[in-house]
Amino acid sequence: MAQKISAPRGTRDLLPEDALAWERVEAVVRDLSARYGFERIDTPLFERTELFARGLGESSDAVEKEMFRVSGGKGSEEELSEWALRPEPTAGIVRAYVEHGLHVRPSPLRLWTMGPMFRYARPQAGRYRQFTQWDVEVIGDPGPMVDAELIELAHRFYAQVGLRGVVAQLNSIGDGVCRPRFREALLAYFTPLADRLSADSQHRLRVNPLRVLDDKELDPALAAGAPKSLDYLCDACRAHFDGLRELLDRLQLPFAINHRLVRGLDYYTRTTVEFYVAGREGQQDALGGGGRYDGLIEVLGGQPAAAIGFGLGIDRTVIAAQAQGAGGERGPSVLAVVSASPNALAGRLRIATALRDAGVPVRVDGLSRKLGRQLESAVKAGAGWALILNDPEGERLTLRDLASGEQRDLALDQVPAALSP
Ligand code: HAM
Repeated sequence: MAQKISAPRGTRDLLPEDALAWERVEAVVRDLSARYGFERIDTPLFERTELFARGLGESSDAVEKEMFRVSGGKGSEEELSEWALRPEPTAGIVRAYVEHGLHVRPSPLRLWTMGPMFRYARPQAGRYRQFTQWDVEVIGDPGPMVDAELIELAHRFYAQVGLRGVVAQLNSIGDGVCRPRFREALLAYFTPLADRLSADSQHRLRVNPLRVLDDKELDPALAAGAPKSLDYLCDACRAHFDGLRELLDRLQLPFAINHRLVRGLDYYTRTTVEFYVAGREGQQDALGGGGRYDGLIEVLGGQPAAAIGFGLGIDRTVIAAQAQGAGGERGPSVLAVVSASPNALAGRLRIATALRDAGVPVRVDGLSRKLGRQLESAVKAGAGWALILNDPEGERLTLRDLASGEQRDLALDQVPAALSP
């Protein structure tokens, strides 16, 4: 026998038994995207590496350690470094916004997308090299009302997919006016303590001191004493954050302030947010996250515009909902077309086709075998009913309820009505 080939590490096959839970989440995504007035955008799965380097920041893990490079046909050094699979969609969406001059459209622009993202990290439970996000972006709205609206939207999404106990963590990391002071304070605090930091954090301290705070190996005692971004906000950032908190209170949406929530991508300003199942607030378990990125559009060559968005991890959401027992229901019942005569394949296909024309979900038995075997196989496949052709052309038909065994004779045009509850 030839050697088997397995799926790449860190990827998942979505088998038919998982598809129903997944489709249910997709239906919620489509419903909410429309209900909140978002328009769909789809950008390529790969982009120029430079887009991610400039957009997400050279020091972000996604760029520095996890970039999934794609080679051109010949795979020369130059081609290898030119493109990468997208680690996240925001940079690509902003690239498209700038490239197509979308700033001339009525503002704010509300966009959504859903699709696979790629990060070449060490695979672990809940961390994959290919994973799917639902992403929403609002460009041209300085907030804070839209910040609250998006947090409410995320909560509604989790409630609607049947996930209970989701909590929002919130922080503000300031902007170009006040962040430099916060950065200086972090440097002043951590530099004398550098030998107590992980090698990773010692590097972060040099390139982006904020990211020391989201090192999961950081000694909690050091973290507790570290400067807090909220203490360094300028008046405008402070007013924005206070406004957001008040709106969340008015909507009765609970949130916890997390001073270490600086996020892993460099484009954030002001609001940062992450969602967790309560009690599972570890870094690998974020169900979703996002925040404001008021400077990114300018960094990518566009007219400055305030913007905010989030990405919700669909894989983690489905897994968490299943762990809570949600989404175990069965799909719509199918009718199996079978026949008394083992060889009446043409008759079965003709009847199945006519029923499909009438909108009935049908599977048709294509094997020449006895009626008993055809029925057994229909039950195993989860069909709710069998339509039995009593003669090769199906002049005489019998409908059988496969759960109760009840059956009755009927004409073909009576079948759709007989199946409706
Ligand atoms: P992010 O926090 O990097 O943000 O990713 C958002 C979500 O994607 C995470 O909370 C998690 O649920 C899921 N996710 C990330 N990496 C993995 C992985 N390796 N395996 C499974 N799930 C994963 C962003 O990507 C930003 N673009 C969000 C955003 C949009 N900010 C503004 N607009």
